[in-house]
Amino acid sequence: MGSYNKKMLDAAVAFNFDDLIVLPGLAQVEPKDISIGTRFTKNIALGVPFVSSPMDTVTESAMAIALARRGGVGVIHRNCSLEEELNMVRAVKRAESFIIRNVILISRNSTVGEASTIMLENHISGLPVVEAGKLVGILTSRDVRANDPVNRVEQAMTKDVITAHEDVTETEAINLMRSNRIEKLPVVGSDGTFRGLITYKDIITRGKYQHALRDKDGRLVVAAAVSPFDLERAKALSKDADALIVDVAHFHNSAVIAATKKIIKETGREIIIGNLGTKKGVLDSVSALDSVAALRMGIGSGSICITTEVTRAGSPTLFAVSQAADALEELGSDIPIIADGGIKNSGDIALAFVFGASSVMMGQVFAGCEESPSPKTRIEDKYYKVHRGMGSAAARAKRAIVDRYADSGGKNIEEGIEILVPFRGRVDDAVDELVGGLRAAIGYAGATDIREMRNASVALVRTPAHKDGIRLKGNK
Ligand code: XMP
Repeated sequence: MGSYNKKMLDAAVAFNFDDLIVLPGLAQVEPKDISIGTRFTKNIALGVPFVSSPMDTVTESAMAIALARRGGVGVIHRNCSLEEELNMVRAVKRAESFIIRNVILISRNSTVGEASTIMLENHISGLPVVEAGKLVGILTSRDVRANDPVNRVEQAMTKDVITAHEDVTETEAINLMRSNRIEKLPVVGSDGTFRGLITYKDIITRGKYQHALRDKDGRLVVAAAVSPFDLERAKALSKDADALIVDVAHFHNSAVIAATKKIIKETGREIIIGNLGTKKGVLDSVSALDSVAALRMGIGSGSICITTEVTRAGSPTLFAVSQAADALEELGSDIPIIADGGIKNSGDIALAFVFGASSVMMGQVFAGCEESPSPKTRIEDKYYKVHRGMGSAAARAKRAIVDRYADSGGKNIEEGIEILVPFRGRVDDAVDELVGGLRAAIGYAGATDIREMRNASVALVRTPAHKDGIRLKGNK
């Protein structure tokens, strides 16, 4: 053995999803009774363990709203201006709150025509009329239709407004609106100051999504991606987003860690860090930072990644997750681990849990859904959506994301590609499919929840699982 190189002999085997299977264990409950609730960060619990990637072909407000309604969470991408990202986050927060706080208002001296334009542009059907902070009336689309556009709002508005106080319950609000045949209920303080608005439509929508992920004010939960080097953006987003992800391809970097330290200190929000790939990376990062809300693990294994091809560096997602679990065990810490990159289906998700992940982040799976931002394209008789790496030339052309990747001095190398993924319908359907598969997988392993999956055993797969023949159906 003397002539063999030690480094090569000692090389770790970095298994990934297709290399291993979970061995069946003694099942004690039926899959339908298996709990798939988990933790996203130290303080945010999820109803389903799914997170959508901060990528511009995956997560904007529509995706984040759809996922949060099912108990998951979306991370708004950062390949845009601060205003655009902030607007996307706020759209999620406004989507179906009980008391809307960011209400669009009008003054009594404006014209009905101006009010009508504001309503059309913002897709709303009522405007509270506020003067010096106090509610003086409400103007609805019915009032707009019944009045000349040149009339002043004051002439057209309803002055005797039915209002509620901040401590109103959902049932009281519904009863008030029903008995008065109104759809908008302004909320005021005891001195008449305007505090917010309750709408009938929002209450009905909320009722449809009983398991939605909500903050303490009843608004949907959303996370947002930030650059480690843009403290101002992080500070601005931290007022609205529930958690921030410091979004870089290689977090284990002194400058990135130092910059993140500042973000943690100055935003006071939960900060998720990543991407990381090794035990040493996690140990160095976690011990240098005051508080880490979660770890995003996996480098170069995503469906659109070519980092490993271009640089021969990376850390397959499953291996990266196991490295994080080892590091956290050594630290005696229970920071949640997010498995990120290359997850194709519920089987991959189950494997990630066996190695210590608490949730999974998916790009490609959600890029194919109706609610992703990319347009649907038809090729012959099938529909597709575009999915692209944030290190691809097309994504980098927007410039906002360039600092996700290290500056290599000369011409920046591409670390991602653009692909077409089959259109797979709505997020709701994708979540149902993943939940069904995941419950079955946990059942086979003999576990009753995600945490217990850590006790499952695995085996190395040597024979490809697929069968010969052309698959006619179920071609996902
Ligand atoms: P999936 O397979 O779910 O992977 O589409 C999504 C994850 O891939 C990462 N990502 C990239 N990795 N080059 C990379 O090496 C890229 O251009 C790129 N863009 C995204 C990211 O972690 C994402 O969540």
